[in-house]
This record gives sequence, structure tokens and C-alpha cells, in this order.
Amino acid sequence: MNAILLIGFMGAGKSTVGRQLAADLDLPFLDLDTAIEAEIQMSIADYFATQGEASFRQIESCILQEIVAQEAVVACGGGIILQPQNHQLLKRQPNVVYLQTNPDQLYQRISQDTQNQRPLADEKTAAEVTAILQPRLPLYQEAASLVVVTDDKTPAIIATEIIERLGKQ
Ligand code: S3P
Repeated sequence: MNAILLIGFMGAGKSTVGRQLAADLDLPFLDLDTAIEAEIQMSIADYFATQGEASFRQIESCILQEIVAQEAVVACGGGIILQPQNHQLLKRQPNVVYLQTNPDQLYQRISQDTQNQRPLADEKTAAEVTAILQPRLPLYQEAASLVVVTDDKTPAIIATEIIERLGKQ
């Protein structure tokens, strides 16, 4: 089996839904950002500050290539679709799930999240976050094999919907 890859913007709930989905399907859960932090031996925020985003994107691509064939549920970082080679790779995968969330909810979640540091979104206004989101929207759509609208749904409901719609039950 290929990995079930969750994509979507920061704050879409990829990690929360991913953990639930992995538990429901009895599969391992992998967070791509956590795998990157293990590789670079520092936080993503520190890496952005010292090495820059372009270098981060190269590492993100390498790790994506390593994990696509694993039997696992994988939460990808929100910018995974930006690199053309990632976008092409995702389009060839059978189980790429785009968690689509409305911009207001995304901004609320990002601004209230004290656990995760997000160098591209922290301390940005709603308009600035939306400006990062807008050009990505078609890329998420194109890369996905399944689009799940998450608005007003719990992680458990979203996980059940993914299982049903991917035909995994
Ligand atoms: C990013 C999203 C983050 C992380 C990095 C860049 C992005 O992951 O990979 O800060 O460009 O959208 P989450 O989507 O898990 O917050």
C-alpha cells in the first residue's frame, strides 16, 4: 500500500486528523515536519531563520520521496505542493487527501496555536495569511485525489469520511 498523504494549508488539521485516521486504520502516523526536524536537528523556525526557506524545501522534497511508499498515514507540511517535483509526485499517488478549510478558520487556528511555530504565518495579519493561501489553492486541488471539506466537522468525522471515500473500510 502507498501512504495516505494529507495535504492542506497550515491549520487545516492535518496532524490531528492524521493521528485519528492512523488509529482508525491501525497504521503508523508520520508527521513530515517532525521527520524534517529529526533530520536537521533543530526546529523548522530556527532552520528557516538560519538556512532559509529554499534549503528547507529541498530537505522536505527528499523526505517526501522517502516516505511516499510507506504503509502509513502522513501529515505533510502546508507548503509541500510548492516544489514542482513534489506536486508531480503527489499527482501520481493514489491516496492524497486535501483537507480544505475556509480561510477564516485557518487564520483563527494559526493565530491561536501556541504549540507550533510557523515561520511563514506567525505574527501575520489575516490578509497576509490569505495572500499566502490564495496562490496555493489550485495546487492543493490539482495534487489531490480526494478533497474533504473540513468546516464544522470533528477530526473523528473527517477521518471516517476519508476512510469511506477512499474505500478503505
Ligand atoms: C509551511 C507549513 C508548516 C511547515 C513550515 C512551512 C508552509 O507545516 O512545514 O512552517 O509553507 O505552509 P504545517 O502545515 O504542518 O503547519
